[in-house]
Amino acid sequence: MADVSDRSNRFLRALARQPVDATPVWIMRQAGRYLPEYRATRERAGSFLALAQTPELACEVTLQPVERFELDAAILFSDILTVPDAMGLGLHFVEGEGPKFQHPVRSAADIVRLGVPDPEASLRYVMDAVRLCRRELRGRVPLIGFGGSPWTLACYMIEGEGSHDFARVKAFALNEPDAMHKLLDINAHAVAAYLAAQAAAGAQALMVFDSWGGMLAPAMFEEFSARYLTRIATLLRNDTHARDVPLILFSKGANANLEVLADSGCAALGVDWTITLDAARRRVGERVALQGNLDPATLLASPEVIRREVRRVKRDFGPHSGHVFNLGHGITPDVDPEHVAVLVDTVHAA
Ligand code: CP3
Repeated sequence: MADVSDRSNRFLRALARQPVDATPVWIMRQAGRYLPEYRATRERAGSFLALAQTPELACEVTLQPVERFELDAAILFSDILTVPDAMGLGLHFVEGEGPKFQHPVRSAADIVRLGVPDPEASLRYVMDAVRLCRRELRGRVPLIGFGGSPWTLACYMIEGEGSHDFARVKAFALNEPDAMHKLLDINAHAVAAYLAAQAAAGAQALMVFDSWGGMLAPAMFEEFSARYLTRIATLLRNDTHARDVPLILFSKGANANLEVLADSGCAALGVDWTITLDAARRRVGERVALQGNLDPATLLASPEVIRREVRRVKRDFGPHSGHVFNLGHGITPDVDPEHVAVLVDTVHAA
């Protein structure tokens, strides 16, 4: 069945809901700290940001998981916060504390000063990394480009760092909705331009991470997150380079809103592990493919348990077209790489 699909195209075929010879699989955060070869390259780079901003090194770590495992896609090694950094917010990482901005957005006046960055100027290092990855992948597997959702970027831009409850950004949205909509509109245009530039540079699928959409009640989700995800989908459909590149939307924790997201114009929805793929599929019907949704903690269990749970996720989706296997969120640094091999082999097995 090599003509129907192989490692070089089963991911894109599944996104198009076409038949495949085996379920394709990739893993969110597949290039990361659970891999000793990643830790070695990061050590050489000196920091996460130096690694992400040096195209040769970003390319090297992008390819590492694809060379070690039979994964069906590579995802560019970068970060969603490159875009607000290019807007002048000053991204930095404090060891063990995650990302922080030197100049967070705290008022309507701060928002007026923000502009849409030219991706081939201030984000050139990302576009160079995309071009290099495509060359080095030599068609073995497709390359996924990505960006953050307008809402999730606004969370970090306003809080200035991660948060457990995102109270500051929610209060801003409730108290100053006009200013918030201006910020989300700038973010939507910035992310759409960033993704379109990645498509022009060679990205073969695009993914938007809305990691904190699930923090919002349904009405606020529609107003402050889904509306701008739809805007990105529309802007990309009108772009010469991105028009034919499938778009995956992943709103973590937003399973109450799957129907809204399925109507955004995307090709696929990422789904976390708090809903079965069967239930998700019944809700979105034939509109989109689904990507997910094994609980990342499963990889901490024994190989027998991993095999059982992978089979359960495949069974939940059923014998239809349009499933890309993934975790329901990123892989954690404490996972044994051998367990990833078990997962990939089990996904591919009939
Ligand atoms: O999936 C991949 O392999 C691609 C690489 C990727 C990274 N970040 C590399 C990274 C992707 C897709 C992202 C997206 C991202 N970045 C998101 C959305 C996805 C999600 O997980 O919800 C968010 C919210 C960010 C912001 C961010 N960047 C955080 C919160 C952190 C700290 C995380 C941690 O575990 O310390 C980062 C840093 C970061 N981005 C790391 C990696 C591999 C860890 C850096 C390191 O110490 O080596």
